[in-house]
Amino acid sequence: MRSSKDLAKRLRFDRFPRPDRFRRSYALLGIVAMLAGVGGWFLLNRTMHDRQYLPGPVSQAHATFGDRCDNCHDQFHSVRNEACLKCHEVRVHSEFEPRTPHCAECHVEHRGGQTLLALSNANCVDCHRQLVTKRSPAIIQAEIPTFAAHPTFAPLRAGQTDRAALRFNHRIHLTSDKIAKADTLTCASCHQPNRAGTLMLPIRFEPHCKRCHKQELQGPTGSIEALHKSPEVVRADLIAQLSVVGIRDADAIFAPAAPHLPGRRADVIDDSHSLREYQERWLTKFEDALYKPLQEAPPGVPRQGLLELNKYCYLCHFPGAATAADQRPSIEATHIPRKWLLHAEFSHRRHELIACKECHASAATGELTTDINLPNKERCARCHVDGVLQSAGTACVSCHLYHDTSRRAALRAGRRREQTTEVFTGKEPPGGVKP
Ligand code: HEC
Ligand code: HEC
Ligand code: HEC
Ligand code: HEC
Ligand code: HEC
Ligand code: HEC
Ligand code: HEC
Ligand code: HEC
Ligand code: HEC
Ligand code: HEC
Repeated sequence: MRSSKDLAKRLRFDRFPRPDRFRRSYALLGIVAMLAGVGGWFLLNRTMHDRQYLPGPVSQAHATFGDRCDNCHDQFHSVRNEACLKCHEVRVHSEFEPRTPHCAECHVEHRGGQTLLALSNANCVDCHRQLVTKRSPAIIQAEIPTFAAHPTFAPLRAGQTDRAALRFNHRIHLTSDKIAKADTLTCASCHQPNRAGTLMLPIRFEPHCKRCHKQELQGPTGSIEALHKSPEVVRADLIAQLSVVGIRDADAIFAPAAPHLPGRRADVIDDSHSLREYQERWLTKFEDALYKPLQEAPPGVPRQGLLELNKYCYLCHFPGAATAADQRPSIEATHIPRKWLLHAEFSHRRHELIACKECHASAATGELTTDINLPNKERCARCHVDGVLQSAGTACVSCHLYHDTSRRAALRAGRRREQTTEVFTGKEPPGGVKP
């Protein structure tokens, strides 16, 4: 039996304990271990510098400075957003987000290779499953846990129309028998993809309309073509063209009505024969023709081909707001949308094996500019199916940007293209390509 006295004997009460042998060897061992540690560290330090602490190589994009840990790390904290923002521009996802996540939540470091931009849907659904926004009332759907639960695209919601101010009838152009067989139009006659292959280039008069809708006017000695420019430029150009014609064909234009005398005309050019009067007279004639209002058939009356009523400006355009005192005609800006899905990215090139009509079925039969012939979400979901390995995928980031919701074209164009170092050091705008 152990008494408390026995136990007490094993305790030491001396205030300055004598070093015993066991303890001495303990300390020695410690010193040796420490020296080995310092030696090891020294060795590693000489050969590997800071990399000895590295849990895995930094990403390829950061490899050039990955050795200098203090670019991202400081001694007392885990990596903070400020460290990244020393080199990268801040582009907040949404001004209405109640919390700004850490960069490292999405951009994983030290896994080498390609992980820096390899996001999973969890990174987005984290917030978008049950979105909290500072905007009230919220204007976007709050619950988007998957692509299947994804809302209808904004331009296809009830009440949306194409508000471009340009008359155009797809059906007539694709079927009219007034267009020669050899000249039959297809989608590609007017719609060509841009260089990146993402969106279609804007429609332009010269390559797409002019060959059939030339703005030709019957002038004093032959036909004159009006430029396709703003009415002021058109007017200045017509005056210039009239001068050329007037000088070149002076005899034909200014000769007296009954030229019974042989040889050149010698009498004084009075007001009724001046160049100025001639120009004004013809200009008025031209502008009256060019800016003749289009009178569409009233409702109920069988529709007539509009081209038979008017082949000039207001066949396609609408008159703009009234202009200054000189009664100059004007043209309403067309505002043909260049990008329809403002909150998403789409690439025609990635779908070039799919016929246009698979996604724009109604375009060929559409008669009105106000029609919107874009595919709906269900169309995309035929190929982009959640959780099906063979599908085209439903990664949120394949269709959306995260940082750039600023609508800046240059930033969008640069997405996924490798950025140059100059971009990040601010010497070059994002998306710029080096020669
Ligand atoms: C481009 C920035 C960057 C550089 C350079 C960098 N790191 Fe990191 N490191 C990170 C991020 C981001 C994390 C993620 C954890 C966090 O939030 O702190 C991390 C985490 C770590 C961790 C924690 C281990 C883990 O997996 O969570 C260690 C240890 C580490 N880094 C060491 C280093 C060392 C040593 C160097 C220099 C050779 C270095 N890092 C260089 C960004 C960087
Ligand atoms: C010392 C400057 C510097 C710091 C600090 C830095 N980066 Fe970078 N980062 C760069 C440069 C330079 C590139 C571009 C490399 C290239 O052109 O391939 C880059 C590229 C990237 C890319 C794009 C990768 C790709 O494949 O296009 C991401 C994402 C990124 N950094 C995130 C971060 C995050 C997150 C942090 C903070 C943990 C951080 N960076 C800290 C300089 C820095
Ligand atoms: C920290 C929370 C949070 C995270 C994480 C998040 N979002 Fe958002 N997102 C928001 C908020 C808040 C809005 C703005 C709501 C509003 O306008 O009222 C928004 C808006 C959007 C919009 C529509 C508006 C626009 O300007 O484009 C899209 C698309 C979007 N997010 C996609 C994504 C994707 C893709 C990811 C993942 C890479 C993601 N979000 C991650 C909070 C978040
Ligand atoms: C196959 C492409 C595709 C995928 C995958 C996709 N989206 Fe979208 N998303 C779109 C398109 C297209 C729009 C419409 C954009 C517009 O109207 O401007 C949109 C719109 C949105 C909007 C705005 C909604 C609104 O009410 O206006 C949010 C938020 C959004 N997506 C989040 C997500 C999230 C989160 C994921 C991942 C779970 C995701 N999206 C996956 C194509 C996609
Ligand atoms: C003679 C030229 C021409 C041809 C041929 C043509 N388009 Fe268009 N398209 C236009 C013009 C002009 C606009 C802009 C006016 C508008 O917004 O309707 C337009 C707009 C569009 C739009 C966007 C606006 C909307 O209506 O949804 C789509 C999509 C489109 N066309 C698809 C097609 C397809 C598909 C074909 C082939 C079946 C086709 N187009 C053939 C001239 C043409
Ligand atoms: C290949 C020749 C050709 C091209 C190219 C062409 N058009 Fe036409 N367009 C015609 C013909 C022919 C008609 C008359 C069709 C009819 O009445 O059957 C017509 C008719 C029209 C009409 C009147 C439609 C109606 O409702 O009666 C408008 C508006 C029009 N074109 C605009 C355009 C625009 C804008 C472009 C360029 C984007 C264009 N056209 C390109 C040949 C063409
Ligand atoms: C056959 C149809 C057609 C006729 C006729 C036509 N235009 Fe256009 N016009 C277009 C199309 C398509 C565009 C948009 C693409 C472009 O800018 O070239 C346009 C654009 C314009 C613009 C630029 C508007 C803007 O949005 O900034 C002006 C200005 C213009 N036209 C003036 C005229 C004038 C003046 C006439 C008559 C002399 C005329 N147009 C006749 C089809 C036509
Ligand atoms: C997989 C579906 C799909 C196919 C196939 C497709 N488009 Fe599109 N198209 C879209 C979507 C989505 C948009 C809206 C893109 C945007 O503006 O954000 C669009 C937009 C357009 C526009 C409006 C201008 C623009 O780029 O926004 C035109 C014109 C157009 N498509 C023509 C065509 C033609 C011509 C073809 C055949 C060569 C074609 N599309 C094939 C899905 C498709
Ligand atoms: C007929 C099948 C089909 C339809 C319909 C379809 N897609 Fe796709 N999509 C694909 C295929 C295949 C890919 C390529 C996948 C890959 O490269 O991994 C793709 C790729 C994409 C990409 C990635 C492009 C990139 O730059 O990486 C986006 C964004 C996209 N689709 C959006 C859409 C949208 C939005 C719709 C509906 C308007 C749609 N798709 C309809 C088959 C389709
Ligand atoms: C919710 C996820 C998420 C967070 C948080 C996030 N990013 Fe990104 N980041 C992305 C996605 C997705 C891309 C791909 C391109 C895009 O969507 O803009 C990207 C691309 C980038 C790129 C390269 C391409 C470009 O647009 O310049 C840089 C650099 C970058 N992020 C830096 C940062 C920095 C710095 C932070 C912290 C302030 C951060 N990211 C926070 C998701 C995120």
